[in-house]
Amino acid sequence: MFNIGSPPVLMNRHTRTAESARKPAAALKAARNAPRPITVVPGLAEVLPADDASFDAAVCSLVLCSVPDQGTALAEVQRVLRPGGELRFYEHVGADRPPLTLLQRAVEPRWSRLGGGCHVTRDTESGHSAAGFSIERIERFTFSPGVVARLGSPHILGIARRP
Ligand SMILES: C[S@@+](CC[C@H](N)C(=O)[O-])C[C@H]1O[C@@H](n2cnc3c(N)ncnc32)[C@H](O)[C@@H]1O
Repeated sequence: MFNIGSPPVLMNRHTRTAESARKPAAALKAARNAPRPITVVPGLAEVLPADDASFDAAVCSLVLCSVPDQGTALAEVQRVLRPGGELRFYEHVGADRPPLTLLQRAVEPRWSRLGGGCHVTRDTESGHSAAGFSIERIERFTFSPGVVARLGSPHILGIARRP
């Protein structure tokens, strides 16, 4: 769930799997240059290759907009976190009022096709709660360096905890 080096992914619309265009090369390179040892393990968010309750913390950064099944991905994060473990998140989410809500709904199909399966209308805050996380801290803000980026706004940044 921690994307180091952001390898671009091509979504296969038929199998609904994510295929890395550059394989994990970028992530491995970034890990090699990191100041702390990092192990890169390939896998999909919906089937994390890790044991139950084996992590103290998880980070999801700009990934829950794109996973084909957000509910399953968040359930997987819950599974691999120990009870009381924390999820730190940073995501762009659907707007909560017009006109941006309407614009996002209009561009969503094309945006998703061009953006490797990314969605601009997801209510990821509710997704965390629905998965059973309790949201401890959340900041909602607009970060839009350009007109196109404005469509992928607002953002949420925060901490959710596995009960
Ligand atoms: C909007 S991009 C963001 C990339 C990177 N996190 C960043 O901040 O630059 C969404 C990312 O979601 C990842 N992704 C899509 N489906 C996935 C899945 N099922 N499991 C894991 N990652 C997935 C893709 O690899 C892609 O890099």
